[in-house]
Amino acid sequence: MGKLKVGILISGRGSNMAALVEAAQKPEFPAEVRCVVANRPDAKGLDFARQHGIPAILVDHKAYASKAEFEAAVTDALVAHDVDFVCLAGFMRIVSPGFIERWHNRLINIHPSLLPSYKGLHTHERALADGVKLTGCTVHFVRAEMDVGPIVAQAAVPVIAGDTPDSLAARILTAEHRLYPLALRLIAEGKATVRGEIVEIAPNAVDETARLFSAR
Ligand code: GAR
Repeated sequence: MGKLKVGILISGRGSNMAALVEAAQKPEFPAEVRCVVANRPDAKGLDFARQHGIPAILVDHKAYASKAEFEAAVTDALVAHDVDFVCLAGFMRIVSPGFIERWHNRLINIHPSLLPSYKGLHTHERALADGVKLTGCTVHFVRAEMDVGPIVAQAAVPVIAGDTPDSLAARILTAEHRLYPLALRLIAEGKATVRGEIVEIAPNAVDETARLFSAR
């Protein structure tokens, strides 16, 4: 079976993209990164992609009259690089139903909370304000409603006394960098499949996910 051909959309730093690229550089990883697309010219992640020999494409949303035209240009770039699966990695534009339909069940996102808690922005500030003791990150298939969609994998991260939004974000980001490659691998291996708006994890993969994120 060939590798899953992945395109990654970013808006900024791109550390999750970098984690996916690094995972995909291992020969046994079942997905390959075909290109990275950014919607902002100052997206730092573009440099990382170029340095790793991955086509890095700028599709500046400001250059398009409408969201539909911008998204059509993104899809054109992905198709031109033979992409058949898309990962949003800190892509800070809300994607339209048309784009989601075009990439139906071939479009995933990482979000810095344990969904369905803390959808949207300022997740860490809100988690701290609520005094929750566990938060984390989620990889999910994208649906028209923001931060909703079949959940592929999650990692729980403790909130520690004295945490600030920044310290909590940093702890969660470390978990994101492990979670996103794991989630993509499960999908690429056919071990995480959408059935009726739930992701079914193959029985032989349940242990792997649990082991990766069990308390140490
Ligand atoms: C990550 O924490 C990601 O989960 C979050 O933005 C950060 C991007 O960092 N995404 C969202 O909030 C999406 N709603 P990165 O550019 O270094 O990967």
